[in-house]
Amino acid sequence: MGAVTIDVAVDTPDQPRVWMVAPDADLPDGLSWSALTGAGFTGAAGTVHVVAAETPLVLAGTGATPTLDDWRDAAGLGSRAASPHTDLAVRLPDDVTADVVRAVVEGTLLARYRYDALRAQAQGHRITRLTVVTGAAHDETAAAAGLGVASAGATALARDLANSPHNHLTAARFARIAVDLGAEVGLEVEVWEQQRCRDERLGGLLAINAGSDEEARFVRLRYVPSGAPTGRLALVGKGIMYDSGGIGLKPNNDSHAQMKNDMSGAAAVLAAMLALPATGGTAEVVGYLMCTDNMPSATAAALGDVARGRSGRTIEIVNTDAEGRVVMSDAFTLAVEDGVDAIVDIATLTGSVARAFGSLLSGITGSDDELVATLTAAANASGERVAPVPLEHRYRPQLSSPVADLRNLGPAGQPDGIISALFLHEFTEGLPWAHLDIAGTAWSTVDAGWQTPGCTGVGARTLLVAAGGFTA
Ligand code: BES
Ligand code: ZN
Ligand code: MN
Repeated sequence: MGAVTIDVAVDTPDQPRVWMVAPDADLPDGLSWSALTGAGFTGAAGTVHVVAAETPLVLAGTGATPTLDDWRDAAGLGSRAASPHTDLAVRLPDDVTADVVRAVVEGTLLARYRYDALRAQAQGHRITRLTVVTGAAHDETAAAAGLGVASAGATALARDLANSPHNHLTAARFARIAVDLGAEVGLEVEVWEQQRCRDERLGGLLAINAGSDEEARFVRLRYVPSGAPTGRLALVGKGIMYDSGGIGLKPNNDSHAQMKNDMSGAAAVLAAMLALPATGGTAEVVGYLMCTDNMPSATAAALGDVARGRSGRTIEIVNTDAEGRVVMSDAFTLAVEDGVDAIVDIATLTGSVARAFGSLLSGITGSDDELVATLTAAANASGERVAPVPLEHRYRPQLSSPVADLRNLGPAGQPDGIISALFLHEFTEGLPWAHLDIAGTAWSTVDAGWQTPGCTGVGARTLLVAAGGFTA
């Protein structure tokens, strides 16, 4: 996100200001509701009013009984209306809660995000200084604002990584970024290069990498809290740097168009874990990033090939485009070997879930109701909504193969959002597990509120909340 200076104050008259206002709320000096309603602004959610003044002043309507999502959206709208100012004060009511402070800071910062890494001239006007103005308790407000900066920063990093084109972000470079950024905040980072992946029998990862000129990378990140850990959680991220479909090439340009972001799961895991030290996560968290592209060539995995993964089980690759579950299965086995208490994975896994739930809802499922509920609550608190996918075990026979222990895809017409999850479930060895399928939500065409077009960075905030407070 770049550095953001956060202040908390009771009043800052000399900064450009965004006032978050419900209908009939207190107004800045010189304004009245009768004049504003006359001008068409009532404080309704989704509306803003720009007051012409020497120091820019924006009123952002929250509606009468705003939800957390309403607060974040309103903050995003207000922040946009105050652009290009990068030094802002946001005025909140005195009875504001910590969750609202956090959501408003997130919305304010994320609304200004642009992917500018490859432009000569930046288009985004990222906030550099933000003053939260409220009469609410100073220390609580400052702490909540700090969380907001950390979580918005995590999302912005995940967006940057996912937006990076394939020719700018190879698996090897992704691993180097993890090493460099991890060192800055004190995470342990371990990278397995190609030969080590072979030595360690990561047969799923290597089968998908077989067609590529770029080497695969396995990255393991570890966050250790300062006190006794409240639990040990594994976060597994799908890191397909580009998904061409493999030798069974995707059929048209439209189906290729977003596939640079097929590493959005790995980006979310990395971004969330980098924020754990600053936000004081209480659990030990181990991240597993499975990085490779999925390319067609004479050396690529062919249809019907059988790979043997780290678990020792064999996988018949009946479709080279169902690659995510194959690379992730090795990570599940590593997590089990590491003795974690639970596994959470995140992946742009299936068109099935994207078609079922669209761009506003990720699919969530898993083997443990409590863990799924924890993830769901974290997602809702983060504005990253989820919808349940049933883990219907009666579909399990669809994964049986005539030649191997498993096949990587059910027969045509079967519900792949469910079947892909059943495939991953095979590798959990009974550990509590929750699964986020973000195929539909990792990309946005919306350019409004705190959402920006292109890669969304979805999952980074959810994982930060859920992993930081994980309790075994
Ligand atoms: N990465 C894709 C899933 C995806 C689809 C993500 C659309 C974002 C948008 C995954 O690897 C994939 O290719 N899935 C295919 C599998 C199928 C051909 C067996 C799918 O779901 O269409
Ligand atoms: Zn994919
Ligand atoms: Mn694919």
